[in-house]
Amino acid sequence: MASREQFSSRSGFIMAAAGSAIGLGNIWGFPTQTANNGGAAFVMVYLVLAFLLAYPALMAELIIGRHARANMVTSLRSISTGPLSRLLGTGIGFYGVMTASLILSFYAIVSGWIIGHFGDALLTTLGMPDAGHTLSDDSNFNSNFLGLIVFMCLTMSIIASGVTDGIEKWSSRLMPMLLLLLTLLIGYVLTQDGASDGLQAYLIPDFSDINPDLVVSAMGQAFFSMSLGVGAMLVYGSYLSDQESLPKIGATVTLVDAGIAILAGLLIIPAIYVAAHNGQLEIIDGQVQGGPGLIFGVLPALFSSMGAIGSVVALVFFALLTIAALTSSISMLEVPVSLATEETPASRKTATLIIGTLITAFATVILLNMGTLFDFIINLTTVYSQPLLGVALCIFVGWVWHRNDLLTSMQAGSDGIENTLFWTIWPLYVQYLCPALILLAFYQSLQ
Ligand code: PHE
Repeated sequence: MASREQFSSRSGFIMAAAGSAIGLGNIWGFPTQTANNGGAAFVMVYLVLAFLLAYPALMAELIIGRHARANMVTSLRSISTGPLSRLLGTGIGFYGVMTASLILSFYAIVSGWIIGHFGDALLTTLGMPDAGHTLSDDSNFNSNFLGLIVFMCLTMSIIASGVTDGIEKWSSRLMPMLLLLLTLLIGYVLTQDGASDGLQAYLIPDFSDINPDLVVSAMGQAFFSMSLGVGAMLVYGSYLSDQESLPKIGATVTLVDAGIAILAGLLIIPAIYVAAHNGQLEIIDGQVQGGPGLIFGVLPALFSSMGAIGSVVALVFFALLTIAALTSSISMLEVPVSLATEETPASRKTATLIIGTLITAFATVILLNMGTLFDFIINLTTVYSQPLLGVALCIFVGWVWHRNDLLTSMQAGSDGIENTLFWTIWPLYVQYLCPALILLAFYQSLQ
């Protein structure tokens, strides 16, 4: 067998894992959910859950992946201890692979909208605004379909080239630029009329907004934003060398991901209030009226308020957002592709082509049935499946995996870890508390 590819450096891995984590979840999902769920209260609950539940679950995935050095299904099988847990591992693995593929199908649609806005900004800058606006019209099937196809082709071509050439190279390029542009845009939006109301809604929590449904939404958002449950981080962990300290890397990724989400909110929530101030949308009783398309109305309005330079800013912003989406989508597609290449004779290229085409076909079915399927698939995958898969993975680590193997894997790359709090607490924490807290949140929201 050919030797397995690995990330060539620690920073390459951190960039790739952060690239997977940072994406539309931060820049589209988090601000939209914050706006629809009472502002600052949601932000607070989100932050608590990111560190309390998502970080430990991320560690579970990274540790399993690096130990087993395989895709999600094979990894779970290999750490199981008998026929029953093997069956369970196989089931959880396939559920994860299916979920990753379904997530990619709606993710590619939203990314297609972004590409449409990019095309719009490009044509507008070139003096063809009418043709541009057609591209960014999200009620136009042809434009949506074109965006979807372009995005899936980009994703597939990166995955077909493998880990170091594809995944790592791409992920290492973008982060600093995205950070810089977000910061500049925040500076601009805060000078606009109405922005201070937005800032208030974003930063001053009203605790009476907190309810079980908000907690479940925040939990789903945290798992989505950190790419958890579906084996994306597990597979990335499988390409990581034994010299690296997983708890530190995991903490870095968690911090960077939460930081970018908070920054994106700092741009978009005030931008929403500026738009409301200008009569472009409505906020009733502190609730912003607008569905998944919210930021696609708000941001172009913001850019056009900038005058001539606006379309250039839009061009750069949507280009960066496309790259951010790509570094996430490649981690989704890598989940089924790694399973196929490791368990069947198919080459990486063939597997990528077949699986990518199937996912694109399914995304087209969603596009043709937006009203019924779009929200349904998002809820099914991100609100329910991801946290439940998180529970399953915690249970696997805590109850099925031989404790000695787990501890040895934790030690790799982390000298002296035996004297840390992480060593004492984390194994028990994922065994008992994580699954209990996640299930409790679901139970409460069903009441
Ligand atoms: N974390 C990504 C984002 O925030 C989405 C993602 C989910 C990536 C699941 C991989 C797996 O955009």
